[in-house]
Amino acid sequence: MPAVGELLNSGTARLRAAGSDSARLDAELLLGLAIGADRTTLIAHSDAPVGADAAAAYERGLVRREAGEPVAYIRGLKEFYGLAFSVDSRGLIPRPETELLVAEAEAEVAWRLVSAPRPAGTPKLRVVDVGTGSGAIAIALAATLRKRRMLPEVSLLAVDSSADALHLARENAVAHGVADEIEVVEADLLPVGPAGAAFDLVLANLPYIPSAEVDRLPVAASFEPRAALDGGPDGLVVIRRLLVLLPDALTSTGTALVEIGFDQGPAIETAVAALPGRWSCRVQPDLTGRPRVARVERSTNPVRPAGVR
Ligand SMILES: C[S@@+](CC[C@H](N)C(=O)[O-])C[C@H]1O[C@@H](n2cnc3c(N)ncnc32)[C@H](O)[C@@H]1O
Repeated sequence: MPAVGELLNSGTARLRAAGSDSARLDAELLLGLAIGADRTTLIAHSDAPVGADAAAAYERGLVRREAGEPVAYIRGLKEFYGLAFSVDSRGLIPRPETELLVAEAEAEVAWRLVSAPRPAGTPKLRVVDVGTGSGAIAIALAATLRKRRMLPEVSLLAVDSSADALHLARENAVAHGVADEIEVVEADLLPVGPAGAAFDLVLANLPYIPSAEVDRLPVAASFEPRAALDGGPDGLVVIRRLLVLLPDALTSTGTALVEIGFDQGPAIETAVAALPGRWSCRVQPDLTGRPRVARVERSTNPVRPAGVR
């Protein structure tokens, strides 16, 4: 029987040859999946023998990864904001850089709830996640607000134009025990009617990659829905359509937090400057220092004090 270390070494070599730039990590995750063990256990027991069934399951995972399929789809899950999300070809795999948007949303909700008195009967804060995909943003926010005992004061809506993605989002909401806290709606950007009434917070990670670049992404991206990635000729077609809706979609003190590509800050600022009335747009960097989240709101909005989280 082959040993753990032996299978990891041969798998790593195969995945490197197939073009993976995270070959060792991929092999560890795939062998861990096959054996039912975490990576730490594999590394600590590199001499342990691997049975035939587990070795065969590992081989099937390697073959799929060699064909370019993302490890997250092979495993069927991806960690995001400290939670495990089910993922498959119905929705985008949540990216670590999107955690900034959730952290900002969490800070914004917390500040809004504590910065002004909220006598009994005060309406809930209305928050919408536009282009929810797997539900990552809405569900991570709901889960963290529940821990902070703030969830009862917030109403959450998750919207996507893809019915498939919404099925996945619902499954994830059930898995994380927040299905009753998040209304899930199929719509183009925002629903019309009462469900679309003005929001205190609009959160959006919509497609923002220029069409020509989508074709040049690593093969793993070709397994994800194109509608989750392709933002049109300059990447900003869908986001611009959302910006135009903001004057009606936001309350008078509402804020939109919109994820963008690292080089799209100036284009977003230009689009916001063209909105009717006076608007501000500030772009925040992610942990790597790259511009990532555009904060769009009326210029009269109070600025959240630094350090409030
Ligand atoms: C970049 S993915 C983000 C998914 C998820 N929010 C995340 O951060 O992992 C963009 C999502 O927006 C959805 N989408 C694209 N165009 C849309 C539109 N016009 N209205 C609503 N959703 C849209 C796609 O179906 C996809 O699920």
